[in-house]
Amino acid sequence: MSHRILLLGAPGAGKGTQSAKLADEYGIEHVTTGDALRANKDMETEYGTPRSFMEAGDLVPDPVVNEIVKTALENADGFVLDGYPRNLDQAEYLSEITDLDAVVLLEVDHEVLVDRLTGRRVCDECGANYHVDFQPPEEAGVCDECGGELVQREDDTEETARERLEVFEENTEPVIEHFREEGVLEEVDGEATPDRVFDRIRDVVEA
Ligand code: AP5
Repeated sequence: MSHRILLLGAPGAGKGTQSAKLADEYGIEHVTTGDALRANKDMETEYGTPRSFMEAGDLVPDPVVNEIVKTALENADGFVLDGYPRNLDQAEYLSEITDLDAVVLLEVDHEVLVDRLTGRRVCDECGANYHVDFQPPEEAGVCDECGGELVQREDDTEETARERLEVFEENTEPVIEHFREEGVLEEVDGEATPDRVFDRIRDVVEA
């Protein structure tokens, strides 16, 4: 069965980490607006480049992001969607273009989120995700999977991370409320090892 899963949670809640595991487990696409925008951050749009919004910790305008998601979902036979929707307009647009089997909210304490974001390192070759304390690579600064260099994301400085958390609280809380009111939201405690959190999500998806 091909799943259509939506993963919600604050920056640093572990959406990217868990989406990769879900995509692997169920053989579905990992659709992530953050990665799609980072890959196109210098693309000229009528609103400016995605980079200008991302470096300030702000949301990229809805029409740009909606188009990316629509194209990605049309081409996927089953997906886990991560990083979208981030406001009510995006949530309503998503409901128009697809039906979801599971909506999972990862819950993590605010200061734990700041620690996770500022300590995150990503491989600049294959995109694999590490943390300097919680998920260190075998050799400092080197990706276990491909030997690529591990770098800090431009928006993972403490100042921008805190700004992103504020933007999340303002814009995405109504999205959570929207799915809660629809009775489809399942809340999962995201404070445990990645494998333990994954077991909790799998229980929800297969219930
Ligand atoms: P995006 O890339 O989507 O970032 P985000 O939502 O801010 O989420 P993150 O990727 O930072 O966190 P995550 O939950 O995936 O955590 P991860 O698994 O890496 O968006 C970036 C920007 O793009 C936005 O600010 C915006 O400008 C723009 N954008 C994106 N989507 C948009 C949209 N729809 N509309 C408008 N603009 C949009 O984990 C974090 C760290 O914690 C890692 O180091 C990891 O190793 C570690 N970790 C993970 N799980 C655990 C665990 N269980 N225990 C300990 N450590 C853990």
